[in-house]
Amino acid sequence: MKLTILGGGGFRVPLVYGALLGDHAEGRVTRVTLYDTDADRLTAVARVLAEQAAGIDDAPAVVATADLDEALRGADFVFSAIRVGGLEGRAADERVALDEGVLGQETVGAGGIAYGLRTVPVATDLARRIARLAPDAWVINFTNPAGLVTEAMARHLGDRVIGICDSPVGLGRRIARVLGVDPDRAWIDYVGLNHLGWVRGLHVDGRDELPRLLADPALLGSFEEGRLFGADWLRSLGAVPNEYLHYYYFNREAVRAYQDAEQTRGVFLREQQEGFYARMKDPAAPPLATWDRTRAEREATYMSENRDVAGAGEREESDLESGGYEQVALALMRAVARDERTSLILDVRNRGALPVLDEDAVIEVPCLVDANGARPVAVDPLPYHAVGLVTAVKAVERAVLEAAESGSRSAAVRAFALHPLVDSVSVARRLVEGYTRAHPGLGYLDRP
Ligand code: G6P
Ligand code: MN
Repeated sequence: MKLTILGGGGFRVPLVYGALLGDHAEGRVTRVTLYDTDADRLTAVARVLAEQAAGIDDAPAVVATADLDEALRGADFVFSAIRVGGLEGRAADERVALDEGVLGQETVGAGGIAYGLRTVPVATDLARRIARLAPDAWVINFTNPAGLVTEAMARHLGDRVIGICDSPVGLGRRIARVLGVDPDRAWIDYVGLNHLGWVRGLHVDGRDELPRLLADPALLGSFEEGRLFGADWLRSLGAVPNEYLHYYYFNREAVRAYQDAEQTRGVFLREQQEGFYARMKDPAAPPLATWDRTRAEREATYMSENRDVAGAGEREESDLESGGYEQVALALMRAVARDERTSLILDVRNRGALPVLDEDAVIEVPCLVDANGARPVAVDPLPYHAVGLVTAVKAVERAVLEAAESGSRSAAVRAFALHPLVDSVSVARRLVEGYTRAHPGLGYLDRP
């Protein structure tokens, strides 16, 4: 099997490669092609992988290339993990929003819209290119905002593109653990959009165990999302939301915390990763040790933005190991390549699973996965408060797709203005001005 990683110079590629090194079964990945637009990053990461592979007989061969067509040809799987505009762009997404008093998070609110407007045209080009050069490849999209970007790519790749996120799996595992249930035996009733979903039940042996959690303040206080949202709110909601819903339910606090922070998340990550790539230019630098040090620093403050606000604490090490997105990606690849049927929570086209959205809307939902790909499972309808958020945010995503396709500025304004976390059309207009000034990549928004 040949795996191509777009964004192959990315900081998390060694995690993916590490997961591949642990797979010795028939049908595993034997060749990895790294593609990136930044040659220095590509060299740095290739050095780390070479060191990871040392002494392992069946380690997948690694090729690094700056030629996209060459990277795509013959690929069985393509991971798309790019960051258009880099962490510099992410920092600008944060700053422009905060200057208007609204949230500039990577995937949520104004920041997520700006990031989407930058990313969709690039992801669309990639999708077209993949459809032409590797029409039989399965494409696994990691690129954020993952739901929106997957939907953009699905317009060209259909159900051959599958989006992934580690947050629903991680949440399900954390809930199972506090309930004393084996996570691999539990059915997690989770649905919504990427970074906008709710666990409504956790079923084991035909019984829903979630009510037991919601009724027990001590249990609720013993895991991250319990502390993040607070026992009272979770009980009142009757579900456990994805951590990213903290930005909706505690928006004012989140914006204030961002404004008060010494550094935004984007700036923090930019500085840290710059350090890694700079050190790696020294041929004497030990690659893995250098990467590991940066990774440890990063994970000490992992996902932090929402957690810092509520003092929810750090994520446990066991969680990072078992629930990480590279594990989700590997499980997905295995199920498809070996026709090993499994269920995973993924970002796929709706196909009727949530009747309140149309068939082509990408949603995040439990799927049955096998050699035929990922098929969403029918789920219970969402309650009205969740329908409200999900449909409003899907309307925003559609406006982003329209703006990216047509270059229409009024569609871009509509995207910002319709978002539940942007409180005025005038703010939306100023955001479009601010973002087009900050990002050269948004120059295409030049039509009325
Ligand atoms: C979570 C999210 C991902 C995000 C990651 C890293 O796992 O589900 O979508 O990319 O956190 O966030 P960071 O702020 O460290 O870039
Ligand atoms: Mn995610």
